Amino acid sequence: MNAKEIERIVSSLDKIPTLPAIYSKLGKLLQSPDATIAAVSNIISEDQVIAAKVLKFVNSAFYGFPQRVGSLQRAIVILGFNTIKNLVFATSVFDMFRGMDTGGAFDKKNFWKHCIGSAVASRVLAEAADLRNPDEVFTGGLLHDIGKLVVAVHYPDKYSAVVNEVQHTGTPMVESERKIFGYDHCQVGSALAAQWRFPADTAQMIGAHHLADGAVPARKDIAAVHMGNILSMALGLGSGGEKKLATVNAKAWELLGLSLSSLELVMDKIVKLYGENTEILEM
Ligand SMILES: [Fe+2]
Ligand SMILES: [Fe+2]
Repeated sequence: MNAKEIERIVSSLDKIPTLPAIYSKLGKLLQSPDATIAAVSNIISEDQVIAAKVLKFVNSAFYGFPQRVGSLQRAIVILGFNTIKNLVFATSVFDMFRGMDTGGAFDKKNFWKHCIGSAVASRVLAEAADLRNPDEVFTGGLLHDIGKLVVAVHYPDKYSAVVNEVQHTGTPMVESERKIFGYDHCQVGSALAAQWRFPADTAQMIGAHHLADGAVPARKDIAAVHMGNILSMALGLGSGGEKKLATVNAKAWELLGLSLSSLELVMDKIVKLYGENTEILEM
């Protein structure tokens, strides 16, 4: 199925929630010249739950400040506008789907853990590989499998059939999805990211995270999300529904330029930050 057809399918889905008002307000403000620390802080303070999470996040080991950061304005200065926007998004995205039926076989709780695990792993890899946009890579990792959730919400029974087939036969999910639906979660996810007006880079990280064997990743951020997904699976951080560990694309690993000896450090960091992030992000 080509990109235009997928776009049409995604725009016809009627249960896709619109992003929360605070997120679009923030997005608009950040694009305008009025984007001051005080203005951003005002918008975030409208939602006390999110405001509390921003403070918790800035005080976490991710940033490792010796002194407690107590004010929202100071937190915004430290984190920067982009991270704040990503964080507001992260804390609200799963909530949008919370009450929706995804079919008996789809395990939403483990799925969400897999999303957080992959987000953290992708970010740690991005930092280790000196990428300039680790926070965007975090968002890419968080959303890489969002297509599964969207399809499951619209076709709970049919998607349960995918999950069951994967669990019984070990078929990769993308293959089972293509067989049963005619498209896969990568295509749906990237179309959705475009519909939500995410940067094109994010849509591409989502769309290309299952790099086929021998395929060359177009960019390092795509390689980081590809590896982040697999590392979080290997570390058993939640589950996206796969039975078998996906194959590492050797070119992706090469592109990141990390040594095998650094992998141990990277894994330790992922496990530590995962624990903290599930605590912060889970509601
Ligand atoms: Fe996936
Ligand atoms: Fe995944």
